[in-house]
Amino acid sequence: MTSDEVRTASGSTIAGSERFDSPSAGTTESVGASLAARVAAGDVVLLEGDLAAGKTTLVRGLVRALGGDDAEVASPTFVLLLSYPCHLGEILTVHHVDLYRIGERLADLREIGLEEVLSEEHAVVAVEWPKDTLTPWIPSDARVWRVTITTRDNESRLIEITPPG
Ligand SMILES: Nc1ncnc2c1ncn2[C@@H]1O[C@H](COP(=O)(O)OP(=O)(O)OP(=O)(O)O)[C@@H](O)[C@H]1O
Ligand SMILES: [Mg+2]
Repeated sequence: MTSDEVRTASGSTIAGSERFDSPSAGTTESVGASLAARVAAGDVVLLEGDLAAGKTTLVRGLVRALGGDDAEVASPTFVLLLSYPCHLGEILTVHHVDLYRIGERLADLREIGLEEVLSEEHAVVAVEWPKDTLTPWIPSDARVWRVTITTRDNESRLIEITPPG
């Protein structure tokens, strides 16, 4: 098994993507927590999935496992960027961005400080509703994780994680 194929009990790996069945919000948080063990300072996590798929829920698990205050993790839909102090290894902050309302306006991305947070050395940046306009802003040496959550029914989700590289 290569390092890309590390899996948790309920995960499986298909063509480099890891798949998890999540029957509950708590399980989705656990998947976020397992991601926390693998991300490093400077990494970017792009989260795709419909409204209420569970993107914020997964980030809550990630923040908690990185030693941050997960009680604070809410949808940043209206404030666009929320930052959670963490203390695990070299990761001192998780920046949580939601671009749902941003459209394609580059000026807005700049205004919320995206450029700064993406270049921070000791941070992980998790982005909900990533846009194509984001691509040139991501430092070329950043490791990018892609998470896609598909809603199957009220409680059941398919979570696919594509590790960097
Ligand atoms: N298996 C599951 N995984 C994640 N969330 C679930 C699951 N089952 C039910 N839920 C519920 O679905 C909702 C997911 O909300 P969340 O804010 O995480 O979604 P989101 O993808 O961030 O949505 P948005 O695009 O609006 O920001 C929560 O109310 C959560 O309790
Ligand atoms: Mg959300």
